[in-house]
Amino acid sequence: MEIFSRIVGTGRAMPGQAVTNAQLVKQLAASGIETSDEWIRERTGISQRFIASEGINTSDLAAEAAANALQAAGMSAQDIDLIILATSTPDMIFPSTACLVQKKIGASGCPAFDVQAVCSGFAYAMATADLFIKAGKAKTALVIGAEVFSRILDWTDRTTCVLFGDGAGAVLLAADSKPGILGHRLHARGEFENILRTPGTVSHGKATGHPFLTMDGQAVFKLAVQVLDSVAREVLADVGHQVSDIDWLIPHQANVRILSATAKRLGIDESKVIVTVGQHANTSAASVPLALDLAVRDGRIQAGQRLMLQGVGGGFTWGAVYLQY
Ligand SMILES: CC(C)(COP(=O)(O)OP(=O)(O)OC[C@H]1O[C@@H](n2cnc3c(N)ncnc32)[C@H](O)[C@@H]1OP(=O)(O)O)[C@@H](O)C(=O)NCCC(=O)NCCS
Repeated sequence: MEIFSRIVGTGRAMPGQAVTNAQLVKQLAASGIETSDEWIRERTGISQRFIASEGINTSDLAAEAAANALQAAGMSAQDIDLIILATSTPDMIFPSTACLVQKKIGASGCPAFDVQAVCSGFAYAMATADLFIKAGKAKTALVIGAEVFSRILDWTDRTTCVLFGDGAGAVLLAADSKPGILGHRLHARGEFENILRTPGTVSHGKATGHPFLTMDGQAVFKLAVQVLDSVAREVLADVGHQVSDIDWLIPHQANVRILSATAKRLGIDESKVIVTVGQHANTSAASVPLALDLAVRDGRIQAGQRLMLQGVGGGFTWGAVYLQY
């Protein structure tokens, strides 16, 4: 009998209050950085983002999202036998944020590790969890995307600091004879590592390099639109489905223009695309599970519907997970 990984619960967590474009414009103006609500909305579709206050870390948001997913699934932390957490903004170099979350939610003993694939992290984490479940190595997996991207932004660089935000989303996957995750594809092209990166680390007790996000926005834009189209088609071909079989497209929430261009290239009506970038901005690995949870809780996503989840980002990495909800 074929084993599938089925989503049995979702959850999310946003830190504090939303920071609107108007508030951000004012804050940046105080340090001589000029931008506007119109520019941000026209170029990106973003109206607001959430910024974690000092002392709130990725593991705090992740643990809250996980607790909400457990509650939605009617499960307890003891039921979890695998934790995979996608982040590029871990609490510390080690232990992994997944281990910190394991402790915070009161789970113990199961494997817990982080994956680092930037804005594709959630797709990488879901595909990995699915392989564990299909191999019979786990029955209930907690998969989380969580970030405090505000900590790696250069707040004097208006070309990047207006684009990102903090948050976490979580999914519980359970082994089931009913579908489930139907297929996935992951990719990376390291030769493009320099178009989107945070090229710093800690060495001999000091931050080294340039530990702030840098980006060639136009290069990222062009690649993102191409690969989100191609990877969706690859996964559909793997499982013998058509674009018309997709009920909801949930691409990484980077920019509303990337989402529209992807829908257009795939020939999917924009009404079938879940769009949350306006309210959350780009939350990197958290963006897809945040959008998923929001659309599950507002009733748009219904049991039996087919979802195409897609990630794209630094590395350069991308991937897609196609599933029946
Ligand atoms: C970043 C992005 C919104 C910029 O939009 P764009 O149309 O390419 O804009 P450009 O970079 O050409 O900049 C246009 C002008 O706006 C200016 N500008 C840039 N940021 C600005 C800001 N926050 N406010 C006001 N003006 C700004 C630039 O300085 C430039 O001015 P100039 O023409 O006088 O030189 C766009 O490239 C993009 O969305 N890229 C993908 C980014 C992304 O999603 N990354 C994450 C993927 S995981």
